[in-house]
Amino acid sequence: MDEVALINLFKSMTLEEKLGQMSQTTGEYFVGEKFPDELVVTGPSLEELGLDAEQLYTVGSVLGVSSTQAINAVQRDYLEKSRLKIPLMFMHDAIHGYRTIFPIPLALASTFDKEIVEEVGKLTAQELRSSGIQVDFSPMVDLVRDARWGRVMESFGEDAYLSGVLGGAMIEGYQGSQDGWIDSNGVVACLKHFAAYGAPDGGRDYASVDMSTKEFFGAYAKPYELALGAAPKMVMASFNSLNGEPATASTYLLDDVLRKRFGFNDLIISDWGAVSELKNHGVALDDEAAGRLALNAGIEIEMVSNAFLKYGEHFTKQSKLMLKKIDHATLKILYLKNELGLFEHPFADEMKEKSVVRADRMIESARNASKASCVLLKNDNEILPMSAIEPILIVGPFAKTKALLGNWNCKGRLDETISVEEGFSHLADRVFAYEYLDEVPEAILAEVTKVIVTIGEVWDRSGEGHSSANLEIPSAQQALIYDIKALGKKVIGIGFSGRPMALESVIDALDGLLWSWYLGNEAGNAIATLMLGLESPTGRLPMSFPRVTGQTPLSYNELRSGRPANESTYSSRYQDVKIGALYPFGYGLRYGTVQLTNVQCSDTVITDQKVVDIQCDIENDSDYDTQESVLLFMEDPVAKLVRPVRELIDFKKVVLKKGEKKTLSFSVSTDSLSYYNNQGEKTLENGKINFYINDLSHLVASIEVKNEEEHIQK
Ligand code: IFM
Repeated sequence: MDEVALINLFKSMTLEEKLGQMSQTTGEYFVGEKFPDELVVTGPSLEELGLDAEQLYTVGSVLGVSSTQAINAVQRDYLEKSRLKIPLMFMHDAIHGYRTIFPIPLALASTFDKEIVEEVGKLTAQELRSSGIQVDFSPMVDLVRDARWGRVMESFGEDAYLSGVLGGAMIEGYQGSQDGWIDSNGVVACLKHFAAYGAPDGGRDYASVDMSTKEFFGAYAKPYELALGAAPKMVMASFNSLNGEPATASTYLLDDVLRKRFGFNDLIISDWGAVSELKNHGVALDDEAAGRLALNAGIEIEMVSNAFLKYGEHFTKQSKLMLKKIDHATLKILYLKNELGLFEHPFADEMKEKSVVRADRMIESARNASKASCVLLKNDNEILPMSAIEPILIVGPFAKTKALLGNWNCKGRLDETISVEEGFSHLADRVFAYEYLDEVPEAILAEVTKVIVTIGEVWDRSGEGHSSANLEIPSAQQALIYDIKALGKKVIGIGFSGRPMALESVIDALDGLLWSWYLGNEAGNAIATLMLGLESPTGRLPMSFPRVTGQTPLSYNELRSGRPANESTYSSRYQDVKIGALYPFGYGLRYGTVQLTNVQCSDTVITDQKVVDIQCDIENDSDYDTQESVLLFMEDPVAKLVRPVRELIDFKKVVLKKGEKKTLSFSVSTDSLSYYNNQGEKTLENGKINFYINDLSHLVASIEVKNEEEHIQK
């Protein structure tokens, strides 16, 4: 539609029609009810929508309808009955694939690979768009340091820089934007959940958050700030309150920080029912007040509850500012629909969907991403890789199951998912898989010297609303490990989970351990390829594994202490557990070694205008072609405020053939050396900065920050 026609359309709209565009419902109110299997519900259902038919046929978007047939039916019904015939926009949660299911985001973060994450975004967008969905509620860049929080599986882990960079890569993949326009095979990325949703009290989903300004800007807001650089067209406000203000009603968060400070000008959507939930937070008496607060703060699309549509005409009366906000939001929605070509092509093309969905490239990429997501945590006496000619015995709850997709698995199908048993059977001749040890025939048990044990937690133990107070693996699995050990066998674990787990109780009994998270459709193939040594594992942990649950929250970049943890009683430690994580952030073994040597800085001093290059040689001494992730950390030993013990400031992936050596260079700017103070200002102090590469305890270089005046950026 040309711009003049679009503006004329806007001018013809009533206030109610504008408020309708700013409202979103689930699909069942239209002919969606005829497709119950295609409706995805991701929040509490609202018994009573409370809208009359005229109001219903003004709404601007629908979420959770998930098949071309159902989407087209809803769109057709809507276009027939609505006065202005502005096509609906369809939105969905495809956080690690739509029909082809890729590894969960926490697993993808283990790749430390922007290209893989971007590719996952791009392919997910192709499947969504061909199916008639234009907006993806992803990526989630909420920083998480507490593995009890159920939504940790949707995150990129405990580091702000990693989360922000990978979030940005995913947005680029989804939108494929050229000159700010979304690719015709791309979808709108909705960055979520603004802000600090990953730090709920006690790791309990939806609980409140209280934190210092320094911590907010330096850690929890940083992933959004970085990911916003990739220009997502939508941001979702979070459910939580921050320092007493629910995000949905916070002019500070949505206007001062997101709009003014971070420069975001596109659409802000609420989370499911969050406008109405302002009553539960105790900041609004009724839905009318809730709607007013949300609109005033900057919410432009209300998801599921409908205070805008029901009460908007009341609370905007005589407020020019409110009416201006409504006009502004409505225009943005119309422009976005136009950019997506919805006015010309409101329906999905079933033929196109068939040619895109589950195409070969999707499956190949899913397998590659899955292999790169696995993390080798233990490999005593090089028990791995196993040989494909020895008998392979696999036991435990994940040996035969196809339920390896992980939560938020959209239209992923179990019959398109490769189990561990199937993956091994594709590569080895004698594979035996059983859920329970007592099912294993004696002859097989007598023959093997090693047993693979599958451990972890089932896929729906993590995800929205699935916080856990226990991170230990179930007692039946602990018993299984010890029973096999008692038979004198070597025990090799494969771990499945949507969160870091506390493994202290079993780790000594395991000779090897590969953590696979939830890998999606290609899980079994990826796991078998690595365990049989066709390729080496290359993943690294994006989140620390505690020894026991009581150590959470836990992260490698905690603040320094006056009494850092050591063996003495009066140090910052627990009396009943060893110090530190069992496996920290960045940890991950390989088959063989990759050496880092010859670290050099281009200068010993850095001033505000300059960049210092840190170079190192990296040599692949292993017997495998590999892709090595190299992590650069800094330490600020003396500052005006207490600083984290280490901080990731860059990472790179290097492709190395067997025996190959390369030189790698990181550009360090003063921006990455600065930090936020409690006034929310970015400050750069003079003094020494130390650097570490991969190994957090091995200092490799230092430089001096020297400015004529110390630098504070407001
Ligand atoms: O996108 C999600 C959000 O992450 C949590 N609540 C429901 C939304 C829509 O399904």
